[in-house]
Amino acid sequence: MPRVFVSDFIPGDILEPLATLADMDVWSQPSAGVGPRISSGGQGVAPQISSRVPRETLLERLAACDGWLSMLSDTIDVELLDAAPKLRVISQMSVGVDNIDVEACRGHGVTVGHTPDVLTETTADTAFALIGAAVRRLPEGEAIVKSGAWGPWDPWHFLSSDLHGATLGIVGMGRIGQAVARRARGFGMRIHYHGRHRLPPEIEQGAWFHHSLQSLLPEARFLSLHCPATPETERMINAETLALLPQGAVLINTARGALLDDEAVLAALDSGQLFAAGLDVYAGEPALHPGYRTRRNGFFLPHLGSATIETRNAMGFRCLDNLDALLAGRAPPDALN
Ligand code: DGY
Repeated sequence: MPRVFVSDFIPGDILEPLATLADMDVWSQPSAGVGPRISSGGQGVAPQISSRVPRETLLERLAACDGWLSMLSDTIDVELLDAAPKLRVISQMSVGVDNIDVEACRGHGVTVGHTPDVLTETTADTAFALIGAAVRRLPEGEAIVKSGAWGPWDPWHFLSSDLHGATLGIVGMGRIGQAVARRARGFGMRIHYHGRHRLPPEIEQGAWFHHSLQSLLPEARFLSLHCPATPETERMINAETLALLPQGAVLINTARGALLDDEAVLAALDSGQLFAAGLDVYAGEPALHPGYRTRRNGFFLPHLGSATIETRNAMGFRCLDNLDALLAGRAPPDALN
């Protein structure tokens, strides 16, 4: 039987079918203090998102494995592939694959699968919740209620701006961007977008296409990011691009932290160029820029965009389908190379 390394806890009913196909080596540690929910805790060595599995454990345990059920927090590079000479298959439980050197995998004869589609709607729910929470100052409001500092009703208290009728700019109009647009239409928002290609009219549904980010930004009172982290998109939101947004814009990021220049975002939150930001992802998470901890006009979540029981189960099963197909030598539903 092939041997498969599993990088983190996966519920038994998902893993069970794999046990008949492979000899499994499951690395498992309890999540840090958030009940059945997944935590981002733990120390690791990954440059972008810290892994819960120590690097030396990965290097050691993968040496004997044919397959790997990996997480977005595992840094999959040449060093690791060199240390895993038997590895043929990586099936990652995420849609984002910026942690994987896919070219190096190809060079090492390793096929990579991931889990698109199944997390689209859940991630769009989170992005839309962040849009509403950030603009309507929900975290500040909640903090004042919990602190006991709430005073008599004041007609000028906690003023914000309307979501309905405003323009939402979407960067990256793939599956998740389109799902966010569907929600925004329900709120009567106008939609502008920038992506690699213009969408057909039946999908575009009146949304306004921009060939460049620079042309989109001046329209976007709200800006939501839905593109992958690549060398081209790294720090695409920086001092220069933030200055193109309308004064008092709202920035939402549920994609990857690498898209932002954190210093520039913090400066824009302080100057009022950004009215608010709602972020779920950070470069170097969980060790986010300390400035985010002190900004009252920011709503900051711990990378929980797709964290519902339904979606994480669906991601787990999708991962197994890919792994199963790859180990059996069949074309997997979601191979990247
Ligand atoms: C992914 O799958 O890439 C997401 O970031 C997980 O929420």
